[in-house]
Amino acid sequence: MLQKQDVSTAISSDARISQHARQLSKQLQMLRERLFPPSSTKSMKTFTSGEAAQLVGVSDGYLRQLSIDGKGPAPEVSATGRRSYTLEQVNELRHFLAASKPRDTLNFLPWRRRGEKLQTIAVANFKGGSAKTTTSIYLAQYLALQGYRVLAVDLDPQASLSSMLGVQPEFDLSEGDTLYGAIRYDERRRPLREIIRKTYFAGLDLVPGNLELMEFEHETPRALVERRMGQSDIFFRRVGIALAEVDADYDIVVIDCPPQLGYLTLGAVCAATSLLITIHPQMVDVASMSQFLLMTSDLMAVVRKAGGDLNHDFIRYVVTRHEPHDGPQAQIVALLRSMFGGEVLAATVLKSTAIADAGLTKQTLYEIERGQVRRSTYDRALESLDAVNGEILANIKQVWGRT
Ligand SMILES: Nc1ncnc2c1ncn2[C@@H]1O[C@H](COP(=O)(O)OP(=O)(O)OP(=O)(O)O)[C@@H](O)[C@H]1O
Ligand SMILES: [Mg+2]
Repeated sequence: MLQKQDVSTAISSDARISQHARQLSKQLQMLRERLFPPSSTKSMKTFTSGEAAQLVGVSDGYLRQLSIDGKGPAPEVSATGRRSYTLEQVNELRHFLAASKPRDTLNFLPWRRRGEKLQTIAVANFKGGSAKTTTSIYLAQYLALQGYRVLAVDLDPQASLSSMLGVQPEFDLSEGDTLYGAIRYDERRRPLREIIRKTYFAGLDLVPGNLELMEFEHETPRALVERRMGQSDIFFRRVGIALAEVDADYDIVVIDCPPQLGYLTLGAVCAATSLLITIHPQMVDVASMSQFLLMTSDLMAVVRKAGGDLNHDFIRYVVTRHEPHDGPQAQIVALLRSMFGGEVLAATVLKSTAIADAGLTKQTLYEIERGQVRRSTYDRALESLDAVNGEILANIKQVWGRT
């Protein structure tokens, strides 16, 4: 028989776990305040005038002359006379040049024009650790550096993309601050525009993620049973409907999918105009990818029969963490190319300690100064990333009908 004392102190497991969660959250908050005081926000590199000139597409000499003439944004000039621009200033330069050379507007300000539809790229694969988040953030940042207006959407409850972009999912977000806020089924649904945040990376906005996104996986079966959903609010249209609210504000949306094939991923795949499937070229990963493709195609067929739009402008496989000198990897990459041909991007993202190390401090090679990591490693990694992202951008431009 239970003693009186036992009864009074016995607490149910849910209460106990909830207590643990609160304790942990409090401790983490304290730890975080020690490690990252509120004033320490993420910092972004500046661009030498050579880099800035290359980004906007003019010569270094021309840029220097502009600055001497006092035209366009004023760069910071160091004691040794080196001029450097912030990314905001690079974008100001784009506007300045586009306005002063109306015939070349598109060269300087590549925003989409009338008739060019918003491009939504879902980065997916249910294999965990296949570099979805890394691929997403490098693509989103690359496109922003090229002058596009980019929205990154973190659809993963683990929220790695959000933390890379300076948002701490456990601390910085309240209820409804993730995409879930805009796709939920009840009356607390909010406009997506209220949820989007600017990031420290000019031209790149974020819809953060955190565990709250899981609610969508739980609520959807209930909603399907309880309500006879009309075609307009059925689960696979909700991501697309939310994104349509901000269609005019962006050129490209990049969605980082979770490593599961749930309702969120399906919603992203339906909202997407194109798909990027990341592949780590190893036997186990490729075997699981084949399962992923089978399951995805089965589910997509169900969604299509239910009226979902599943036409994509392009589907591309991206080889990531590639070690070209590894024999088995080379065989797998060759196999993929022989099967899928041009649907496998010609460029691959090399496995690089520079990418992994920068990732540890939640940074990318696009936002740190070149001197911060060993130059040869940095240059090789960046070259492969630029090549991959350049190919994806070429696909986007092709969809827009640009040459
Ligand atoms: N090209 C690369 N070279 C070296 N390390 C890499 C590279 N790409 C990714 N990584 C590392 O591999 C790990 C997994 O990458 P990432 O988080 O992008 O995968 P993911 O598919 O998003 O994972 P998850 O399924 O958990 O969401 C990370 O630690 C990342 O830093
Ligand atoms: Mg991820």
